[in-house]
Amino acid sequence: MINYQATESFALELDFADPLKKYREQFQIPKKPNGEDAIYFSGNSLGLQPKTARDYIEQELEDWAKMGVHGHISARRPWIPYHEFLAEQTARLVGAKPIEVVVMNSLTVNLHLMMVSFYRPTLQRHKIVIEANAFPSDQYAVQSQIKFHGLDPKTSLVELHPRDGEFTVRTEDIEAFIEKDGESIALIMLGGVNYYSGQVFEMERITKAGHKKGCVVGFDLAHAAGNIVLDLHKWDVDFAVWCTYKYLNAGPGAIAGCFVHEKHARRFDLPRFAGWWGQNKETRFLMPFDFEAILGAEGWQLSNPPILQLAALRASLDIFDEAGMKALREKSERLTGYLEILLNQNRDDNISIITPNDPKQRGCQFSIRVKKNGKQLHDRLNAAGIFCDWREPDVIRVAPVPLYNTFADVCNFAETFNKLSREG
Ligand SMILES: Cc1ncc(COP(=O)(O)O)c(C=O)c1O
Repeated sequence: MINYQATESFALELDFADPLKKYREQFQIPKKPNGEDAIYFSGNSLGLQPKTARDYIEQELEDWAKMGVHGHISARRPWIPYHEFLAEQTARLVGAKPIEVVVMNSLTVNLHLMMVSFYRPTLQRHKIVIEANAFPSDQYAVQSQIKFHGLDPKTSLVELHPRDGEFTVRTEDIEAFIEKDGESIALIMLGGVNYYSGQVFEMERITKAGHKKGCVVGFDLAHAAGNIVLDLHKWDVDFAVWCTYKYLNAGPGAIAGCFVHEKHARRFDLPRFAGWWGQNKETRFLMPFDFEAILGAEGWQLSNPPILQLAALRASLDIFDEAGMKALREKSERLTGYLEILLNQNRDDNISIITPNDPKQRGCQFSIRVKKNGKQLHDRLNAAGIFCDWREPDVIRVAPVPLYNTFADVCNFAETFNKLSREG
């Protein structure tokens, strides 16, 4: 058992022994005005730029400059199949088979595409279940899908709330709810990690409970992909969507990911919104009138994808693949564990951590609830060179990310945080 200390020299020792320490150098770390590295704890919002992203994008710019349209076939990495170059790495990242994943569009678009196929309400089974405090885009998306089917969100949308006085939803409560109401539920669609509380939902157990009652189960993995170890195929999840600009460092507004379980690969009977990039590759350029979907997740594609975006994502996925999600997760648990100890050493009544204290139920993120003057505290942290964010009404979110954050970052953050919060 390590005796964690709140000194920079102790944190530097941990950094020295860190087997993943070389990866920090592979990222552009924003600077404070004095030129020192800032403490970047906003990787749960926008991940940092891999230094290689520029080279990967430049290669495509060069090929475009030299070859014009011929780049579709003759670029060093031809553009027509470019998304296929990301399939294996993406599959490893989320615990899937390559046929189950594709990168395309953006997250909310993918969520809609999935619901078009997998939210099939009937008179008896019409509800969508989401977590209370789901990200607004998810709330709008599910409400609009319900209305699209002529139904009313007041009766067809159910939110799962934590118990009174608690901030996270207990898995046993979710299971009990599904057991009781399952026959009226068409779709369970939760965040893999809730954006506000940082709670990791027990996806395997929830999927099992949902399937037992005949519900479709999907997840929004915006805060889970690249953060926690995922095993979507084995967990038997029906579909999942995620963005790549957070933990996956693919840049602002980057292209998103989508998982469709192999068991649905041949579900050509399902309605879907189609586009030519989902069309059978053998015949796509013969321009047939009738749509014939590619097997698997690729069959849900609409448009030919943005190559510069895919190039940026590839730069980051190469790093993930080398570092490995398991090793990253191990370091992440140690970083957050250290942060928790240091914050708890100085906590007063004004501060509470709403993220679960069980490491299995959280990822990189800590959501710190500040009862009074939280927004001012957040602004002062930013002024001190700490990147963190404020989520209304009362939460400061911080996320030490194992690829590029250090134990020294955690120690220095905690020292500044404790000092500024004491000053009120
Ligand atoms: C949990 C969650 N869902 C959905 C979104 C919306 O993503 P996009 O704008 O890429 O559709 C976000 C964005 O931060 C998010 O955190």
